[in-house]
Amino acid sequence: MEVMEAIAARRSIRRYSSRPVSEGLIRQILEAGRLAPSASNLQTWKFKVVTEPHIRKALREAAYDQRFVEEAPVVIVACADLVALGDRLKRTLELLRAGAVKPSAGMILWYVRQRGSKEEARGFLHAVINVTIAVQNMVLAATSLGLGTCWVRAFEEEKVAKVLRLPPEYPPIFLLPLGYPAESPRPRPRRPLEEILL
Ligand SMILES: Cc1cc2nc3c(=O)[nH]c(=O)nc-3n(C[C@H](O)[C@H](O)[C@H](O)COP(=O)(O)O)c2cc1C
Repeated sequence: MEVMEAIAARRSIRRYSSRPVSEGLIRQILEAGRLAPSASNLQTWKFKVVTEPHIRKALREAAYDQRFVEEAPVVIVACADLVALGDRLKRTLELLRAGAVKPSAGMILWYVRQRGSKEEARGFLHAVINVTIAVQNMVLAATSLGLGTCWVRAFEEEKVAKVLRLPPEYPPIFLLPLGYPAESPRPRPRRPLEEILL
């Protein structure tokens, strides 16, 4: 599938079949993330691949009971890799490790805004932008392979970190349920081009 075709064909999928996704396909999707561009090529991402039913159930609970988070046979949890930022987030990282700042993007942003430097704010912003680019690569790769995904940001980040026992240096930014679609939703409306041009 050409890139433009995948962009046009992609939908948020919220119903999945129980058909398992092969390891080979999961690897191809991760590879699409791995190849993403990033600010200063810092590659500030880490991915956790979840297939275990009881962990998917726990993720659903952490995601305000969004059913499809459990239903999808795979959930890729995309985290920011704050270690890869080097010294850019040094002080906040120390506090995260000490448990004084909670491992969630919202809390890190809040802390950096109150106490951190501009460099820290910039570093963290770039880390999150980088993860976002990698995830969109994976979303489009999944579409081209006949798989469905749905971006999920509505979740309790600290709960997800706890369920997966994530080290505090890797706060979860997105959940990406992945599987064979059991629905084919119609395209959702987009604003016309004239409206989005400045
Ligand atoms: C950053 C981001 C966060 C999102 N979070 C959720 C979510 O938590 N739950 C959900 O059902 N959909 C979520 N979505 C999906 C959007 O609702 C969806 O992309 C939008 O309505 C457009 O529909 P489409 O993806 O089918 O084109 C999210 C999308 C993005 C980009």
